[in-house]
Amino acid sequence: MYGNAYISPEEAKQMQSQQDDPKQLALFEARVAKGEKVEPGDWMPTDYRKQLIRMIEQHAHSEIVGALPEGTWITRAPNFRRKLALIAKVQDEIGHGQLLYSAAETLGKTREQMLADLLSGKSKYSNVFNYPAKTWADIAVIGFLVDGAAIVNQVINSKGSYGPYCRALERICYEESFHLKQGHDNFVYLATGTPQQRNMLQEALNRWYRPLLHFFGPSDKASQHSEKLMKWRVKLASNDDMRNQFLDQYVPKILELDLTLPDPNLKKNDAGIWEFSDPDWDEFKRVINGDGPCNAERLAVRRYAEEAGRWVRNALMRKEEKYVVPLA
Ligand code: COA
Repeated sequence: MYGNAYISPEEAKQMQSQQDDPKQLALFEARVAKGEKVEPGDWMPTDYRKQLIRMIEQHAHSEIVGALPEGTWITRAPNFRRKLALIAKVQDEIGHGQLLYSAAETLGKTREQMLADLLSGKSKYSNVFNYPAKTWADIAVIGFLVDGAAIVNQVINSKGSYGPYCRALERICYEESFHLKQGHDNFVYLATGTPQQRNMLQEALNRWYRPLLHFFGPSDKASQHSEKLMKWRVKLASNDDMRNQFLDQYVPKILELDLTLPDPNLKKNDAGIWEFSDPDWDEFKRVINGDGPCNAERLAVRRYAEEAGRWVRNALMRKEEKYVVPLA
């Protein structure tokens, strides 16, 4: 999957200290424009490497932090069938983190450094995972709509130019499509249930509406990285295009269940573009910069996991120990 071509951090540092050769840059851009995949051992512009590390690393962090709000509901799932599905989903999300950290490592940043940057607050992760899952209906909304939004983004990114990231995303998308089914099933069950269940779902939907709009990033005008990432075909759709695609797919599904969205200005215009009220971009900025409702809690749990799991990692690092003799 990763092409077995890892770049060591020393090699990556050396490459990053060099100026990009204009001839190599032109050849690289021509390859990428033709739709060829870039592999870890290939020449790539310094900034392409930096941008990919940033993006894939943030994506990997989002998977492992994203498992936390759902993880808190495993013990409180309403029945055994829902509990089993949730356990499997949470386990998959951690696996996605594993695939993505491996893809980012091919570019020369170690997993230890990535995790250290997450825990110190230097690296970002997706805004949506800094909100609480207050009721079981939040789990339905996460499973259906957060996963639905993630699939829109990931299917697009999986057609991008960096081979290891695309291959990891293809596999992730297969698994995400199962997640979406369980989320949809849960969502429809509550939407067609008792008045109390419907109210609970409507309240959760109202809570998640704005974070879901934020999920695709700032508007195209405010996006700092889109231009370069689109030129190098890392991103194949802009933030606004992805957001529009998501609204187009999911708003009708929500409305047909007689649920509402908390925005009187949400509507599709004659050009087929969804219009909505300002979703409070200041809130988005606060949340992605560490000041959301659950940022401190999420990082505290990850720090605990890092500490508590250290002995396991140390044991695995002892290469000289071939196997452990079982106790009689
Ligand atoms: N949550 C947290 N931070 C976000 C964000 C979000 N939903 N959307 C954008 N940002 C951050 C960006 O990381 C960037 O910050 P940085 O410069 O400190 O890294 C800043 O906001 C400006 O955004 P933009 O220039 O538009 O970033 P981008 O071109 O990388 O686009 C994504 C943002 C999320 C669309 C893009 O990075 C992406 O597709 N990432 C991979 C998928 C992913 O991570 N999914 C999340 C979990 S499933």
